[in-house]
Amino acid sequence: MAKRVLVSGGAGYIGSHVTVELINAGYEVVVADNLSNCDMTCFEGVKKITGRDDIPFYQVDCCDPDAVAGLFAENEIDAVIHFAAFKAVGESVAEPIMYYRNNLVSFLNILEESRKQGGCNVLFSSSATVYGEAEVLPVTEQTPRLPATSPYGNTKQMCEDILRDSVAAYKGVKGIALRYFNPIGAHPSALIGELPRGVPNNLVPFITQTAIGKRECLSIFGNDYPTEDGTCLRDYIDVVDLAKAHVAAVARMLDGKMKEDYEIFNVGTGRPVSVSELVNAFEKVNELKLNYKYVDRRPGDVMAIWADTTRANEELGWKAERSVEDTLASAWAWEKHLAGK
Ligand code: UD1
Repeated sequence: MAKRVLVSGGAGYIGSHVTVELINAGYEVVVADNLSNCDMTCFEGVKKITGRDDIPFYQVDCCDPDAVAGLFAENEIDAVIHFAAFKAVGESVAEPIMYYRNNLVSFLNILEESRKQGGCNVLFSSSATVYGEAEVLPVTEQTPRLPATSPYGNTKQMCEDILRDSVAAYKGVKGIALRYFNPIGAHPSALIGELPRGVPNNLVPFITQTAIGKRECLSIFGNDYPTEDGTCLRDYIDVVDLAKAHVAAVARMLDGKMKEDYEIFNVGTGRPVSVSELVNAFEKVNELKLNYKYVDRRPGDVMAIWADTTRANEELGWKAERSVEDTLASAWAWEKHLAGK
């Protein structure tokens, strides 16, 4: 019988892409989302892409322990992928209690229920933010984590530790933390993608919204960094590639292939790309001109970070495949889809 995966936060940007890839790979999926940072657009897109009208959807808040207990009571869950969390760095600085409560309590509830089942496989969506301004690049999973510079980043570190300690303490609970670099792009169908609320904080949604005319001008934060072109370097990972890494990790857990009961993987391309390079690639592949200007550095930004992906490549048998050009074309197609063009 097909294994069943609970995807918390499954109506959101990454969760919806992961749901599609899980279904493509033959898993049953149960989606839980409180719709606090998205609407049903992507879930409807998931149904269209997969041709599946029967994917169970629960509009619940994972901070509610009874609701989480209900998810497990009504569905036989083999693995959980936990996305349900707030993710805006600036907002987390302004509203730390809200961030700590939401991001920690929801994860604790998921773990508590997993443990009560007599064990479960839990995949946590972590972030390269845990590495901070690393001294040696690219970063491997052994690169020491640095003290978080925001409550958001701190919740990622804390949840990793909570998972590690729970795996050590509770028999049958196994865990994987995936540390994402910079997820960008959209599904090739343009039926699902990122839906930022308000002014986007992240680079690619700001680019696409500027190109479509929703924003006047992209500000590039700093061109005086000691990098080749003066702008920051990041490892931009295509969201469909990222989703496939989740499928590989879930399969590793469910097929009993884990070497340790708690494992960590970097999920990136292994290639640094500067902000200027990304903007130029976007203009070129989509044959348009973007309005942009250079402004001061953004406080809190690291100059450069990219992944050593050896472990994910070798252990998960996974590799990022889509080119940055294809990814940027998909981001633009999604923005146009949203605009009805
Ligand atoms: C940010 C978060 C990180 C989080 C990730 C989630 C910060 C400091 N870090 O990563 O913790 O895990 O989002 O996706 O907020 N840029 C511009 N103009 C813009 C927006 C961004 O020049 O309008 C530049 C930034 O300076 C950076 C790069 O683009 O060099 C990528 O920025 P962004 O997409 O916000 O991601 P990160 O800052 O890497």
